[in-house]
Amino acid sequence: MKHKFLILNGPNLNLLGEREPDQYGKISLENLEDDLRDAFPDLELSFFQSNHEGELVDCLHQAHHTGLRGIVFNPGAYTHTSVALRDAVKAISTPVIEVHLSNIYSREPFRHFSYLAPVCVGQISGLGTGGYGLAIRWLISNS
Ligand code: DQA
Repeated sequence: MKHKFLILNGPNLNLLGEREPDQYGKISLENLEDDLRDAFPDLELSFFQSNHEGELVDCLHQAHHTGLRGIVFNPGAYTHTSVALRDAVKAISTPVIEVHLSNIYSREPFRHFSYLAPVCVGQISGLGTGGYGLAIRWLISNS
């Protein structure tokens, strides 16, 4: 049976590739997802992106019931604002790794704080799209 992982992306990440390419790179979310499918053919990867906080909360709750080994989550700007997403991550037993394309600690001070980091198993920030694959690799070996 293939191990299942969820790659979850929050607000504005649907615009990856066109939005601030100097900050977030030129690859689209669709291409990023294809690259991850190609890199991990032995895994069952599912993907979800939403610009809506409640939909992301719902997705985390559902993930809890579907036998996932782990979740790679880029919460976008909700990282810095959302108690609801923090509580949702805390409420589920599935391990979650927080990923950011950019190095949030080298940017504006309001991005230096993450509500989610303390309830995630770890955080990868600033390694571009490579952060998603690294997070999956860690989850394969440790979850
Ligand atoms: C981001 C960093 C956030 O601060 C920002 O709001 C995003 C993207 C990143 O991947 O670097 O939307 O999560």
